[in-house]
Amino acid sequence: MERTEGKVRIIMDGKELLTEPGVTLLDAARKNNIPIPTLCHHPALTPWGGCRLCVVEVDGAPKLAASCVTPVRDGMNIVTSNERIIESRKAVLEFLFAERNHNCMFCPQSGECELQSLAYQMQMDHLTDSPSFQFFPTDVTSEYMVMDHNRCVLCGRCVRGCAQLAGNYVLHFQNRGPKSLIGIDLNDRREGSTCLSCGLCMQLCPTGAITSRYRSHYAVKGHERERKAVDSVCTLCGLLCPTVVTTAGNTLLKIEGQVSVGNGRPDKGQLCYRGRFDSFKEEKRLTRPLVLGKDGKWKEEQWEEAIRVASEGLKSLKEKYGGQSVVGIASSNLSNEELILFKDFSESLGLGRVDTLDGIHYRSVLSGLQSAGAGMREASWKKIAETDFVLLLGGDPWESQPVLSSLIRKGMLEKGLKAAVAGKADSCAGAGAMEIPVKPGKEILFMQGFLTSVLKTADGTTGALKGSEVLRMMQTDVEGVLDEICSSYEERRRFAEMVGAFLDAKDPLVIGAPSITEEPEAVRLAADISMVKGFIERDILRLILLKSSGNSAGSWHLGIPSLVNRENDRGWEGGVLLLGGVAEPRPLPVFLNDLKFLVVVSPFQLEELAGKAHVLLPRPRWIENEGTFTSLDGRESVFAGKTLEPPEGVRDARRILMELARGCGSPLGGKG
Ligand code: SF4
Ligand code: SF4
Ligand code: SF4
Ligand code: FES
Repeated sequence: MERTEGKVRIIMDGKELLTEPGVTLLDAARKNNIPIPTLCHHPALTPWGGCRLCVVEVDGAPKLAASCVTPVRDGMNIVTSNERIIESRKAVLEFLFAERNHNCMFCPQSGECELQSLAYQMQMDHLTDSPSFQFFPTDVTSEYMVMDHNRCVLCGRCVRGCAQLAGNYVLHFQNRGPKSLIGIDLNDRREGSTCLSCGLCMQLCPTGAITSRYRSHYAVKGHERERKAVDSVCTLCGLLCPTVVTTAGNTLLKIEGQVSVGNGRPDKGQLCYRGRFDSFKEEKRLTRPLVLGKDGKWKEEQWEEAIRVASEGLKSLKEKYGGQSVVGIASSNLSNEELILFKDFSESLGLGRVDTLDGIHYRSVLSGLQSAGAGMREASWKKIAETDFVLLLGGDPWESQPVLSSLIRKGMLEKGLKAAVAGKADSCAGAGAMEIPVKPGKEILFMQGFLTSVLKTADGTTGALKGSEVLRMMQTDVEGVLDEICSSYEERRRFAEMVGAFLDAKDPLVIGAPSITEEPEAVRLAADISMVKGFIERDILRLILLKSSGNSAGSWHLGIPSLVNRENDRGWEGGVLLLGGVAEPRPLPVFLNDLKFLVVVSPFQLEELAGKAHVLLPRPRWIENEGTFTSLDGRESVFAGKTLEPPEGVRDARRILMELARGCGSPLGGKG
């Protein structure tokens, strides 16, 4: 048969096809729109060849071949469907149904289960043999997911996904024969395991064996044809992970990562426990404007009246005490468009202080980096996939940027990445991170000791570190520091091990948790440590600073937080607090307690606002909103689309600001 340059020629169902060498028969069929059923196969995972639903006939051989693991060969003649093949697939399917309890009526996955769909496709309307299944306990020990081994077809997609994509290696096949099940560490339940609750196994599971505790049964939420899946972005942290959001009517059904298509990011489409589940456990919604009455009770008001009360309140404060007495605080979870409008609003009203809830971090970062050396930039978070050593200051990124934890863990287990943690190693400890549980407030001491030890051990090598900083550090009493931060000989030994590993590293990174960015000196020391190993290139530091809100980098870039730290100021008379579309980190700033008049724009009725706020104005939550967000490292600007309509009675935050400004007699852009 004629061979075209670099291509492989095959015949599939009588059609001549040219394919790339090395692809599987399944790949070739899918590329040419020839349907072959699959179950254990998933395009984001390595082929496994376990279920044999994808069998095809090759060159008329008596043994059918699993197309998902059989590579193309020049001149191959493949039949993808005939009586023998269909019988074989049906037999496999019947075994699967007979082996476990697949009573679809009572399964939460019914309606979007791949096993069920295959049964429909193959018109399987009865079992030839009696079911032979035994009962397995259902694991409900996780806050997020239910694991029902009775629905498991042992396809291994969860096992491969947890290892190959999440890098967590928690799942494995346990027991043999009919007792086989998917084990979690050495258990058959999630409780007490090292599972990170990222939910990737649940997304990859083709049946109802792993389901969300937050997702509703399809029968309640509508048939498949009523569902809508929209590509979007998780804006809960600055990693801005791409998502697919599925809704039915205006109800959120699930949020998944874009694993199937790959996304060119090192995380390969993962989501974390926050991105996947947090939106299902939001707090009590605010759906009508509320105004605090003279009797101290909240009263629902029409929008016009609530805006009038809010504007009058702010206006009278301005008249009595001047615009300088009013403060404007925004969340860094707002989109860039909302932040820009908030800035205009604050300027238009001549507010005395404009800040963000994470303003203290912004000021520390600015001042800390300036002390370390002007004009330097942070590294991209994507660099984590290439580094050979990470120093995690203030704990691992499990709480602030959970997918980064996953990348670090994966690097440790697969590529020999070394991780040293000063603080809590929530997710990296099990993968062999060197950990010293430095207590909050002692991080600066740790960094001083670490930097000085590095300089003393490095034999005169100081990298890009300024000479004045070297001299400053040489004053540190390392022994005294170790007495303060280490509680055992073992921890002192680990400290020395961390210093050695940092010095040996070729391409290290220093990662500072949000607790580090509360103090300029801590930021300066983190930058100093990173500079001992030089820059990544030109002015790019070997430093990543984690940020507490989804658009911290955006609000900092726009310069929203005040440069002057007046966190403990008293003397403000009133204010406007513009919250983002997510559950904000608590506590809210204490000075809000003392204001004579406070207008709050929020999607939720936060309990801590009782006794502080005087007018509450409802805004959409993040999935009901759209706008651009800036990535953690400030390098990308990503548009997050709206996936749900907000409840009736809720108004867009930008519209609220425009109306407030107009009510205060300071219309935005002169138009209002
Ligand atoms: S939730 Fe994530 S970490 Fe836990 S078992 Fe599933 S894939 Fe692995
Ligand atoms: S739990 Fe789901 S993904 Fe894992 S082996 Fe069972 S059926 Fe497959
Ligand atoms: S890591 Fe951040 S952006 Fe990604 S899913 Fe989690 S919260 Fe969302
Ligand atoms: S899909 Fe090919 S063997 Fe399972």
